Amino acid sequence: MIGRLNHVAIAVPDLASASAHYRDGLGAKVSAPQALPEHGVTVVFVELPNTKIELLHPLGENSPIKAFLDKNPSGGMHHVCFEVDDILKARDHLKAEGKRVLGDGEPRIGAHNKPVLFLHPKDFSGTLIEIEQA
Ligand code: CO
Repeated sequence: MIGRLNHVAIAVPDLASASAHYRDGLGAKVSAPQALPEHGVTVVFVELPNTKIELLHPLGENSPIKAFLDKNPSGGMHHVCFEVDDILKARDHLKAEGKRVLGDGEPRIGAHNKPVLFLHPKDFSGTLIEIEQA
């Protein structure tokens, strides 16, 4: 069921300095910051040969990553995203396996304009999992 690792998302308190770490320190191709108000984040995409890193910074007061940064002031890994061929089939399988799907269980359009769902970190070794329709 699980497909490619689409991205690893890292919440950062300072987008410019995090971008510089990847661009100058690691020599990665780094995008300009993109504001995604409907997701409550500003994101920088770090392109790697086999996947992406997404640097997330809160945008607005109701940002979903604000509480995470309050708990982890220097930033940290926020979630990993796996691609699936059929998100509804994947959701139903996960639910049948006793995994908790966050929110109302209906896929939402994510940062890449594709349907996504998030799975409870307590069901996945303490890691927030995003699944995205490939
Ligand atoms: Co994501």
